[in-house]
Amino acid sequence: MKFFVDTADIAAIRELNDLGMVDGVTTNPSLILKAGRNIAEVTREICELVPGPVSAEVVAADAEGMIREGKHLAKIAGNITVKVPLTWDGLKACRALSDEGHMVNVTLCFSAAQAILAAKAGATFISPFIGRLDDIHLDGMDLIADIREIYDNYGFETQILAASIRTVNHIVDAAKIGADVITAPPSVIKSMANHVLTDKGLAQFDADWKQTGQKIV
Ligand code: G3P
Repeated sequence: MKFFVDTADIAAIRELNDLGMVDGVTTNPSLILKAGRNIAEVTREICELVPGPVSAEVVAADAEGMIREGKHLAKIAGNITVKVPLTWDGLKACRALSDEGHMVNVTLCFSAAQAILAAKAGATFISPFIGRLDDIHLDGMDLIADIREIYDNYGFETQILAASIRTVNHIVDAAKIGADVITAPPSVIKSMANHVLTDKGLAQFDADWKQTGQKIV
């Protein structure tokens, strides 16, 4: 399973990247706003740091505008993945950009039907949004499972990039289903290391060690 980090925060990307845990990065207009940085500048910095795919999202609503913006974003670095929304125009842009050899991430996917169209349009990645489906009392993980089954039935090569990940369980469940990639905020990835029994065990070892009166170095 590949780990993408869902952020435009350079320091957070660097910390995880130094541990070899970053296979790619995803950004979107909201994350660019949160970073408070110019999109071209921050995306270039991310691409210099991470050799894997770095998603940069278009904002035009029409296919022509998306293609124009996508080509512009792709000039930032060789590892840019152009992110387009799952609309009819987004699918047209996906086909055009993919035919020109660009990696394309089709985002804001909320149904298996949409995922089928993205694969047919040549998407490199499909981004089903788990958390936002859970928000409206649907099961985001069912969507991941449905897409996995359908893509496997027909050998679609589009990679399932589980997005809108909010919890550690989302990551583990997506891994069990066989999502190719997860993209998650750095805080969620880091919290995968936490376990209450680890903390409890460590406290006991610490207390017992103090009683020995020893030092290791
Ligand atoms: O990768 C998409 C992600 O940024 C959306 O997450 O938590 O805003 O639904 P969220």
